[in-house]
Amino acid sequence: MTRALVVYESMFGNTRVIAEAVGAALAEGGLRVDVVEVGSAPDVLPADVALLVVGAPTHTFSLSRPSTRRLAADQAAGDLVSRGRGVREWLAALRPVVRPVAARAFDTRMGTGWFTGSAAKMITKRLGRLHFDDVGAPRSFYVAGTCGPLLEGELDRAADWARTVRAASPA
Ligand SMILES: Cc1cc2nc3c(=O)[nH]c(=O)nc-3n(C[C@H](O)[C@H](O)[C@H](O)COP(=O)(O)O)c2cc1C
Repeated sequence: MTRALVVYESMFGNTRVIAEAVGAALAEGGLRVDVVEVGSAPDVLPADVALLVVGAPTHTFSLSRPSTRRLAADQAAGDLVSRGRGVREWLAALRPVVRPVAARAFDTRMGTGWFTGSAAKMITKRLGRLHFDDVGAPRSFYVAGTCGPLLEGELDRAADWARTVRAASPA
């Protein structure tokens, strides 16, 4: 039996909450789903994973770097959720896939429009280079400020998106 893997990076917890909502909606039809923080994500995709979903916060228009994660730590009230590597470093370590695996990317961010950038766009590009097929359009979910909270309705949007991903995926 195949499964879906949801990998997320999160500083203040907002992207983690979206990842969990995505995982729960993917699992609604009985699909096995694992939701893992990027520090624990495998560098070689397990053979039974037929759908990979990757999410990260947008930092300076793109994926986080060690320097932007330090800036996030300065603003955090407590510990960061992701305290090790980020999705940028994980995707650099992830081995290309040699079989058909569907993939989707999402991010969280503060602003709308092209000038805010999108971590998910970068993730989508990298997944394509790693030979994932059926890499659909990236999706953004919105926070009210740097530390959150998520805007109202974003959890429902995440669940709806996950249902369309599940319907279109082979997992
Ligand atoms: C260093 C830093 C840079 C950021 N740059 C952007 C940005 O370029 N565009 C944007 O819309 N949001 C930006 N943000 C806001 C983040 O996207 C927001 O903190 C994130 O969505 C929260 O998710 P998290 O709780 O999972 O970390 C930035 C946040 C930090 C800490």
